[in-house]
Amino acid sequence: MKFFIDTANLKQIQEAQHLGVLDGVTTNPSLMAKEGITGRDSILKHYQNICEIVEGDVSAEVIGTQFEDMIKEGEELAKLHPQIVVKIPMIKDGVKAIKYFTDKGIKTNCTLVFSSGQALLAAKAGATYVSPFIGRLDDVSTDGLSLIQEIRQIYDNFNFKTEILAASVRHTMHVVNCAKIGADVMTGPLSSIEGLLKHPLTDNGLQKFLEDAQSLGI
Ligand code: E4P
Repeated sequence: MKFFIDTANLKQIQEAQHLGVLDGVTTNPSLMAKEGITGRDSILKHYQNICEIVEGDVSAEVIGTQFEDMIKEGEELAKLHPQIVVKIPMIKDGVKAIKYFTDKGIKTNCTLVFSSGQALLAAKAGATYVSPFIGRLDDVSTDGLSLIQEIRQIYDNFNFKTEILAASVRHTMHVVNCAKIGADVMTGPLSSIEGLLKHPLTDNGLQKFLEDAQSLGI
């Protein structure tokens, strides 16, 4: 399972990269706005900075919602760096744009996916990644993990190559459960990755080992 970090914060991306388990980054306009980045040039430069920190795929989202606008923006983003994946919303023109980029060999991430039907369409258009937002589904009393399960079954039935990128991951158990279900990738905050480290028995056990090691006089 690949681990992506869902942030545009360079410090957090660096921290996750130094842990040695990072496979990529996802961003969106809200995450870019959170970092206070404004203006086209600064945004493009920021994507380049992210690509210099990580070795894997970096999703950069188009803002346009019309086919022609998405193509223009996506082509500009893809030219920035070979690691850029063009992130496109699950709307009619978005599906057409995914197909266009697929035919050109440009990687895509179909975002804002909330149903297995949408995921089926994204795979038919050849998306590299499909991003079901599990946290946002949980927020409205719908089981996000069940959606991952449904998509896994559909993709396995037909051997679709599109990777399931569990998005809107909010906590560590989301990560563990996505791994159990067979999501190919998860994207979440650094805390959801670092939470995997934690167990009180590890902390207590280590403390005891260190105390006993001291008594050995070494
Ligand atoms: C996915 O690529 C999105 O950037 C992200 O996971 C959305 O997460 P949120 O629901 O926590 O905003």
